[in-house]
Amino acid sequence: MFIALEGVDGSGKSTQVAMLCEALGPDTLRIREPGGTDAAEAIRDTLADPGIPLDATAELLLFFAARADLVNRVIHPALEAGRLVVSDRFVDSTEAYQGVARGLGIEVVAELNRIATGGLLPDLTVLLRVDPAVGLERAKSGDRFEAEGLGFQQLVAGAYEDIARREPDRVVAVDGNGTPEEVHLRVMDALREFLGPEPAGTGS
Ligand code: TMP
Repeated sequence: MFIALEGVDGSGKSTQVAMLCEALGPDTLRIREPGGTDAAEAIRDTLADPGIPLDATAELLLFFAARADLVNRVIHPALEAGRLVVSDRFVDSTEAYQGVARGLGIEVVAELNRIATGGLLPDLTVLLRVDPAVGLERAKSGDRFEAEGLGFQQLVAGAYEDIARREPDRVVAVDGNGTPEEVHLRVMDALREFLGPEPAGTGS
C-alpha cells in the first residue's frame, strides 16, 4: 500500500510521516519527494535553492525527473514486494504547486505523471490542513517555494482543497493544528477509516 502526506509548507508533514512510519513498523519504506535516490536528492538541491534561477516548465520537468527515478527504481519494486510505502509529498504537490500556483495546468501534470510513473497515485493521501499563513510562519527552510510568499501558499492550499473534493475516496483532509501527538491520532483515524472495519478477532 502506498500512502502520501500532503500540505502547504510548514504543515507539519515531515513530523507526521515520521510518526506514521514508526506506528506502521520497521518494514515501512519512508521516502520524501523530491528525493529518495541519489539523483532525486541532487535534483532536490537545485529545486530548493532560490538562488538558482529556474524556468517554471524546467522546474516542473525536474520534479517529474526526480519522481520517475524514485518511482521506477524504488517505489514500484517496494510495492511489488508487498511493502508499505509512506511518502512525504507526491504528485498532488505538483498539481498544487506547479499546476495551479505556477499556473502550468493540472492536465499537463496528470499527463506527465502518466509518462513519468505510469500514472501511479497513492492509495491514500492524507492532507494536513493548516492555515497557509501559520504554515509559512513556522516553515524554516527558506526554499524556493517559501520564498514565493503567502499568496503562493494560499493558491497551493486552495488547489489541495480542490483535489480533496474531486477525489474523496483517495484524499482525506485532517486538521493539522495541535500537538504532533494530536495530529498523529487524526492521521491514524484517517488510515483506519480508509482500511475499513477489521475482521473480527484481529485485535483492538
Ligand atoms: P518539503 O520537503 O520541505 O516539503 O520541500 C519540498 C518543496 O518542494 C515544498 O516547498 C513543496 C515543493 N514541491 C513542489 O513544488 N512540487 C512538487 O511536486 C513537490 C514534490 C514539492
